Amino acid sequence: MSEIHRASTTAPVNIAVIKYWGKRDPKLNLPTNSSLSVTLSQADLRTHTTASCSSSYPSSDSLLLNGSPQDVSGARTQACFRELRALRKKIEEQDGSLPRLSEMPLKIVSENNFPTAAGLASSAAGFAALVRAIANLYELPASPTELSRIARQGSGSACRSLFGGYVGWDQGSAADGSDSMAFEVAPAEHWPNMRAVILVVSAAKKGVSSTAGMQTTVATSSLFAARASETVPKRMQEMQKAIKEKDFETFAKVTMMDSNSFHATCLDTYPPIFYLNDVSRAAIKVVESINVAAGKIIAAYTFDAGPNAVVYYLEEKEKEVAGLFKAALGDKEGWSGKRGDAIQANSEGLEKAK
Ligand code: DP6
Repeated sequence: MSEIHRASTTAPVNIAVIKYWGKRDPKLNLPTNSSLSVTLSQADLRTHTTASCSSSYPSSDSLLLNGSPQDVSGARTQACFRELRALRKKIEEQDGSLPRLSEMPLKIVSENNFPTAAGLASSAAGFAALVRAIANLYELPASPTELSRIARQGSGSACRSLFGGYVGWDQGSAADGSDSMAFEVAPAEHWPNMRAVILVVSAAKKGVSSTAGMQTTVATSSLFAARASETVPKRMQEMQKAIKEKDFETFAKVTMMDSNSFHATCLDTYPPIFYLNDVSRAAIKVVESINVAAGKIIAAYTFDAGPNAVVYYLEEKEKEVAGLFKAALGDKEGWSGKRGDAIQANSEGLEKAK
């Protein structure tokens, strides 16, 4: 029986405050604009992945996600496997005594500790964990920056999950994507009291996938060009400054405005894309009323390609922000007020809280 080589890792979910939406090169997953996200606590939301390889495995690579077999023949997964194998091959060529792991079939086993279909950026944590698990298995000396370049090819937002804390993704300008990778804006300890609560409006799988949706936006929206070339570059600067200075009001305002801008380009897409629903809009109203009651901005909403709201706030404002949502929604299971918690939303509760 041949030996089985194995390595495990976990990767966190990240939620963008400046959204990635649009590809200038769909094959290499190169974006039309830079983006910035906050990595959520792994205690709450994460993917755990084990990568193994053995010459005794069946000849093709395989991937099991939450117990069900996934198709690995897609170009994105293949690109990640190919790049990582090439890096391993280089080391094997330099040191003839190393086992030829690059020639063995891979078996990947992944588990999310949150519902995959809930639209909670599962592809970001998924590809980040897949890439890091294989890099560990292959004992690659690759840095998070280098791995982010590979994970990006699996799913754009995945490149940002290779870092903790506050993370940027530089769009880059090279045609081969060599400068399109994630970078650390600040570690989590820099601003440790940041919290995020996720309002699960719907656990249904998203109607229009991000990949398909953003391509239609690039092709048809006239608002999109201004967003990519003017709005986002300016906001990237403002956001990095706000994070460095721990200026929550600016952080929050830019977060909300960028979410609004992204969903405006979705509406401006033809045919239009609707990710927000009535419950999402009710959540926006609740955040607005929290901020009005506080006399300053203490909470910020943001929405990805689905109706679920993520609300950022600082720990010391827990009572005013999360407390209000909690009161509106009832003491639903899963709520404990930590960063990255998910609570179930319903329109009735939110109507009461407005
Ligand atoms: C709205 O990273 O899922 O969440 O690169 O096609 O896999 P692909 O897209 P994906 O898009 C994420 C879009 C977003 C915004 C963001 O996370 O920046």
